[in-house]
Amino acid sequence: MEALGTALLLGLYALLYYYLGVATRCRNAVSLRGKTVLITGGNTGIGKATAVDLARRGARVILACRNKARGESAVYDIRRESGNSEVILMILDLGNLNSVRAFVQSFLKSEPRLDILINNAGVVKGGQTIDDFNQSFQVNHLAHFLLTHLLLDRLKPCAPSRVVIAASNMHFFGKIDFRTIYKPVEGMWQAVRSYSNSKLANIVHVRELANRLERTNVTCYAVHPGFVQAKITHSHPRWVAWLLRTIKPFLRDGKTGAQTIIYCATEEGIERLSGRYFVDCQPKVPSPPACDDLMAEKLWEFNEMLLGLTTSDRKGQMRRLG
Ligand SMILES: NC(=O)c1ccc[n+]([C@@H]2O[C@H](COP(=O)([O-])OP(=O)(O)OC[C@H]3O[C@@H](n4cnc5c(N)ncnc54)[C@H](OP(=O)(O)O)[C@@H]3O)[C@@H](O)[C@H]2O)c1
Ligand SMILES: *[C@@H]1O[C@H](CO)[C@@H](O)[C@H](O)[C@H]1NC(C)=O
Ligand SMILES: *[C@@H]1O[C@H](CO)[C@@H](O)[C@H](O)[C@H]1NC(C)=O
Repeated sequence: MEALGTALLLGLYALLYYYLGVATRCRNAVSLRGKTVLITGGNTGIGKATAVDLARRGARVILACRNKARGESAVYDIRRESGNSEVILMILDLGNLNSVRAFVQSFLKSEPRLDILINNAGVVKGGQTIDDFNQSFQVNHLAHFLLTHLLLDRLKPCAPSRVVIAASNMHFFGKIDFRTIYKPVEGMWQAVRSYSNSKLANIVHVRELANRLERTNVTCYAVHPGFVQAKITHSHPRWVAWLLRTIKPFLRDGKTGAQTIIYCATEEGIERLSGRYFVDCQPKVPSPPACDDLMAEKLWEFNEMLLGLTTSDRKGQMRRLG
């Protein structure tokens, strides 16, 4: 009986380990000398590990962080670990759309190139932003949509260039409802739901972006990094913290979690897979709503409306999207 129990437990652990821990490495040795990479939220977790790897490949790496002290300390670490001194901090708060616009202005002034844009920053958080939108929706999706939109004029002349967006397998629990997606939420459960919705929006964004960038040689990819021990999994209610502590041994470290992002940023010959969703350095089929081209087009127009990038009237658009 005891042996059976032990075997079952070992089996369960092996299964957990297989699903959560085992990961494919990005094996290419592509050099990024002369290239400029921009990473949002590169001061910790997956983004920081990605920054170290790309800096080692010789890229000029710009970290776009919301906090100066955390950003500076990360720049120090990344320079030291990579031996590359061209790692630079710029301030960007995705929870504030004016900060996105100001960031792009100074970026375009000081940086002549942009070869790889990595939309990595993310939160699991309820409440609303200064712009009155759902936190996860704005930080994870809408602000990155604006950032990408405003940086296309730098990406296009640098082609072949790439956009990599950190999504998540949590998108399988997500849905896009234009009536609620941008509204603030309260409580942990709602926050997780809205996180999943925003990660679905990330994949849908990549799909439409690829369509719109056809023949520009700017390609884009959505990535599930795997489940990673990161800050995103910290500041939460006690039961969540307990759950996360229990599965922590099975979670990936930042470096392992960064592999598929690094792969999509550097691997040669994947351009024909632009617009796809990658897990463990391979294209995977995301959830059905993530493959809906009509939804992708609608979400694009919806974002443009929220951001005031279109001229058409808001009510008419809402009715059409309803
Ligand atoms: N961890 C996982 O298991 C997992 C699984 C699937 C997908 N992902 C995705 O992978 C990405 C990175 O996750 P992670 O685990 O590395 O997260 P993390 O350790 O929590 O780091 C998140 C990063 O985003 C930054 N950030 C948060 N709000 C911001 C804002 N308003 N403006 C600018 N930057 C902001 C954070 O900056 P501060 O340090 O200032 O807070 C931090 O640098 C996220 O998009 C996440 O959704 C993670
Ligand atoms: C935003 O708020 C609405 C309303 O509470 C919620 O249903 C939705 O899931 C939230 N988040 C996102 C990203 O959709
Ligand atoms: C895209 O790349 C191909 C192959 O390198 C090249 O022939 C073509 O001119 C490029 N197109 C643009 C719009 O840059």
